[in-house]
Amino acid sequence: MSMSKKHSDIIQKQFTKTTEAFSEFAPRDTAEMLAVRVDLVKPQPHELSLDVACGPGTLVLAMAPRVLFARGIDLTRAMLLQARRFQAQANLVNACFDRGDAEQLPYPDASFHVVTCQFCFHHMPKPTAALREMARVARPEGRVMVIDSVAPESDEKWELHNQIERKRDPSHTASLRLTDFLAMFEGLSLRVARQRIRRQTRSFNQWMLRAGVPSSHERYREVCRMMEESIAGDTAGFSPQPNGGDLTIVHHEGMFLLAREENSP
Ligand SMILES: C[S@@+](CC[C@H](N)C(=O)[O-])C[C@H]1O[C@@H](n2cnc3c(N)ncnc32)[C@H](O)[C@@H]1O
Repeated sequence: MSMSKKHSDIIQKQFTKTTEAFSEFAPRDTAEMLAVRVDLVKPQPHELSLDVACGPGTLVLAMAPRVLFARGIDLTRAMLLQARRFQAQANLVNACFDRGDAEQLPYPDASFHVVTCQFCFHHMPKPTAALREMARVARPEGRVMVIDSVAPESDEKWELHNQIERKRDPSHTASLRLTDFLAMFEGLSLRVARQRIRRQTRSFNQWMLRAGVPSSHERYREVCRMMEESIAGDTAGFSPQPNGGDLTIVHHEGMFLLAREENSP
């Protein structure tokens, strides 16, 4: 069964509001970073790829020159329109963008050689349902890549970390910990072929703008207060450091390349 209508509405409201800010403040999507992600799945010229919850299509458009055809799918219409605008600017004809829910992908089994999803599991009430769908539409010899923030392991830090994330962006459900990711992969008989966790340092103010929350907002002040209160003892796991009128914060970005186990159910 797909996600609740209520959560689907929250997602679409948040990402319709922030399509422009989201596309503009994307320091994590430099050409170099995208190239690393694309290289990891070793796309081949005859292959078909799918990026789930593709947002403005950045990864799809980085993949397209390396495959026969690249598809993206997302729930939010405004994101898909932005993705198609970027596609036209890039003059790429071998890509397209569909509307749909990651938990119920509208594709037959074993349709794609490469299936990716970046920075979306933390918006999903049931990430396992989405990953099961990704594995279903991947060919048996295909590759599945998941990229997302990795939350701190300690229960107290994990709780506060996600409270701050949810206050900033109401469509955030929960960032998973490394142990949660690994248990989810194992439960779906997906073997981790490669795993990388990177420290990503960013500006707190830019991170807030990306979620559509400028410093004039009440919500900005609340999140800023929570973040500052977490400095002593790093109680939320963001390692915040004052930096002029801003804070420097850290996310841990996990990148997992998965293969379907032989004899998987
Ligand atoms: C943080 S953005 C990431 C977008 C893109 N993957 C990127 O890295 O730029 C999250 C995106 O996930 C989409 N999304 C959230 N839940 C979804 C779901 N269940 N099915 C499809 N798209 C979803 C939102 O519409 C939004 O575009």
